[in-house]
Amino acid sequence: MADLPRLPKPVDRGMITPMKIAILTGAGISAESGLGTFRDEDGLWTRYDLNDVATPEGFARDPALVHEFYNARRENCLAADPNAAHLALVRLARSPDHDVTLITQNIDDLHERAGSTDTIHMHGALMRALCNACGTRWDAPPIMSPHDQCPKCLQTATRPDVVWFGEMPYFMDKIATAVTRADLFVAIGTSAEVYPAAGLIELARGKTLELNLVPSAQTNAFDARRFGPATDVVSQWVSELTA
Ligand code: APR
Repeated sequence: MADLPRLPKPVDRGMITPMKIAILTGAGISAESGLGTFRDEDGLWTRYDLNDVATPEGFARDPALVHEFYNARRENCLAADPNAAHLALVRLARSPDHDVTLITQNIDDLHERAGSTDTIHMHGALMRALCNACGTRWDAPPIMSPHDQCPKCLQTATRPDVVWFGEMPYFMDKIATAVTRADLFVAIGTSAEVYPAAGLIELARGKTLELNLVPSAQTNAFDARRFGPATDVVSQWVSELTA
C-alpha cells in the first residue's frame, strides 16, 4: 500500500486546557448575606445544642424541635440574597479558561440563586425534604412538621434532606475525584473543623489556597492564604484569574 501522505500536525490553535479548580465553600461565604455561621462568636452552635438539632438522635427525641430549627433557617435563607462572593464564583465557572467544581458544606441555596450550576451539596440542602421511610426526596415546603406525609409512601417520616453529625456526607466519591484531579483546590469561608470536608485538602495534588476571614484550623496546610471578608477576597481573587 502506497505510503499515505504525511498529514501536517494539527495546528496548535492555542487551545488552552482549562485550569481545573475544585472549590469548597463553608458558612463564611454566606455570612455577608446575613446567614449565620456555626462557630463564630454569635454562631448557631452558641445558641443551639447541635446534639438536639443536628443529629439523628436529636431528631428521634424531638422531631418538632428539629423541624422548628430548620424552618427558621429556611425562612432566613429565603429572605437572604446571594452576595458578591457567590456571584464571583459564577463568573469564574463561566470563564472558558477554568473548569470549576463547586463543592459546598452549606445547605443554603445561595450558590444556585447566584447562578451556580451543578453545585455539590455534601451536607444536603435546606430546600429539599427526605422521607426516612422510603428515601424519596422532594422540594421542601417553607415549613415542615412531623405530621407531613411523604408524597410517595404517605408515611409521616419526613425530615429535611440535610446531613447530620454521625451521618455520611453525600457525593464523597465525586468530591474526592474532583479534588484529587484539581490543579488548584480552594477553601472559602470554612473553619476546617468538620470532617470529612476538613480532610479534603489532604487529597489535593495541585496547589491549595485558603480564602477566609481569619486563619482556619488547617491554614498552615495551604500553599497560600488570603484573609478578609469573602465579598472582598473572593471577588479580588476571581478578578485576577479572569482578567
Ligand atoms: N468572609 C469569609 N469568611 C468568613 C466570613 C466572611 N464574611 N465570616 C466568617 N467567616 C469564616 C470564619 O472565620 C470561619 O472560619 O467562616 C468560617 C465559618 O466556620 P464555621 O462556622 O465552622 O462553618 P463551616 O466551616 O461551614 O462549618 C462546617 O459544620 O456544623 C457543621 O454542617 C455544618 O456545614 C457545617 C460544617
